[in-house]
This record gives sequence, structure tokens and C-alpha cells, in this order.
Amino acid sequence: MNRMQDKVCVVTGAARGIGRGIAEFFAKEGAKRVWVLDMNDKEFPEVEAAYPAIKGMVVNVSDAKAVALFVEKANAEYGRIDVLVNNAGITRDALIQKMTEEDWDAVINVNLKGVFLMTKYIAPLMMEAGSGAIISISSVVGLDGNIGQSNYAASKGGVVAMTKGWAKEFARKGAKVRVNAISPGYTRTPMIETVPEKVLEPIIAKTPLGRLGEIDDIAHAVLFFACDESSFITGQVLRVDGGLVL
Ligand code: NAI
Repeated sequence: MNRMQDKVCVVTGAARGIGRGIAEFFAKEGAKRVWVLDMNDKEFPEVEAAYPAIKGMVVNVSDAKAVALFVEKANAEYGRIDVLVNNAGITRDALIQKMTEEDWDAVINVNLKGVFLMTKYIAPLMMEAGSGAIISISSVVGLDGNIGQSNYAASKGGVVAMTKGWAKEFARKGAKVRVNAISPGYTRTPMIETVPEKVLEPIIAKTPLGRLGEIDDIAHAVLFFACDESSFITGQVLRVDGGLVL
């Protein structure tokens, strides 16, 4: 019940979807503060009203200045950040011949550079404190690729590679900062609302557990990596995809 007792947490892209589910789990599990970062503040009043520990902040994860300012503010208020969840992500799908440079840059800027910037500014606080947990949301596409998603696959594969490198880098000098990633399969969120059922049906048929993921499936896995129950686990990528890829 109190697996996040008194922890100060940051979840990016958390106004809706998987990020919001993660933020709510952290608050339910006793976190002292859950910063919900997003570019879209429309949902903040609703998210904040449900859990007093949750506080929304407009931050674009690919804007270095905005990230640095946020981290300075959060650190001034609480003196530490215990958990960072790099969840913000976008898609701009197209076959390679039709993918524009803009499609490429947009996805890389949020999904890869955003993870780099958030981690660059928050990891030093964790290193100084001697502990912390960083969890990034990759995707089955980052591990296995997908037609029409070169930009997304590159960004999510990059997240896996950074996770493994950082697991080594942040466990030096006596620090116990753990870095792990989750690789969800298709999960019912606003992100896949526009994917037609005829595309989803064969995916469900191929999935041994016979359904799409739900937000709580992913949030449970993130909670495990965020809390002390996983204190001897770092540098791992956990597939949460109903066995889609075996
Ligand atoms: P979503 O589209 O429902 O929510 C993403 C949130 O990120 C939105 O609130 C959006 O405003 C925010 N965001 C976008 N750009 C941002 C930026 N530059 N700075 C701050 N916030 C920003 O997406 P969903 O489905 O909840 O996905 C969450 C994560 O899970 C993403 O990284 C996604 O790539 C990943 N994922 C999702 C899967 C799915 O099937 N839904 C499958 C595998 C991975």
C-alpha cells in the first residue's frame, strides 16, 4: 500500500494515458509529491483534484531551458527527486519514402532528446543523494522494429541503449541509482485511438494472452521498478505485451 511512501517523483507526458496512470499509482502508494509534466495543461485540474500529491507543470521535455528550470524549482522545494519516469512520447508514422525530415525530427526530439534532457538534469541530484530510480518507457517497436515507424523505432531503441549505458554510469562512486525500461505492446490509450480495429484485431490474435494492454498493466510494472522491491535490478528492459513477442 505504501510502496512509494514519501518519495518525490516526476512523470513526463502524464496529463493522460499511461503517464497519468503511473502518476496516480505513485500517489495512491503514498508518494509525497508527483510532478506531472506535460505540454497540455487542460487535464491538470482533474488530475490534481483526484490526488493532492499530484502537481501539474507545463514542461516541454525537448526544451533544455524548460527542463532545467523545472528541476531547479522541484529541487528548491523538496531538496531531492527520488523517481523519474520518462514517459512522454509521440508518433509520426509513415513509410520511409514518405517520412519527412520534420516527422523524423519531431519524434526524435520528444522520444529520445526528451529522455536525454530529463535524465541529464535529474540524475546528478540522484547521484548526489546516493540513490534513485529512473524508468523510461520504450516500446516493442524499439526492440523489434515496425513498418512505417523508422523514427519511432530509432527513438525507442535509443532509449533501451541509453538505459543500459546509464545503469552502468549511475551506479558508480557508491551511488545506487537504478535505470530500467519498460517495453509495452499496444496499450489502450488516446495514442492508439486512431488505430483502426482492423489493425488491432490481428495483433490481439497474435498475442498469447489474447488482448491489448491496459494502462494499469504498464503502471504496475513501472511501480515495481520505482519502488524498493526492485532494489537489486538495473539495466533491464521488461516487455509488458501479453507475450506478443516470444
Ligand atoms: P498519449 O499520447 O496518450 O500520452 C502522451 C502524453 O505525452 C500526452 O499527454 C502529451 O501531451 C505528452 N507529450 C507529448 N509531447 C510532449 C513533450 N514534448 N513534453 C511533454 N509532454 C509531452 O500516449 P500513451 O499511449 O500514454 O504513451 C505513453 C508512452 O508509452 C509513450 O512514450 C509511448 O511511446 C509509449 N508506448 C505506448 C504504447 C501504446 O500502445 N499506447 C505502446 C508502446 C509504448
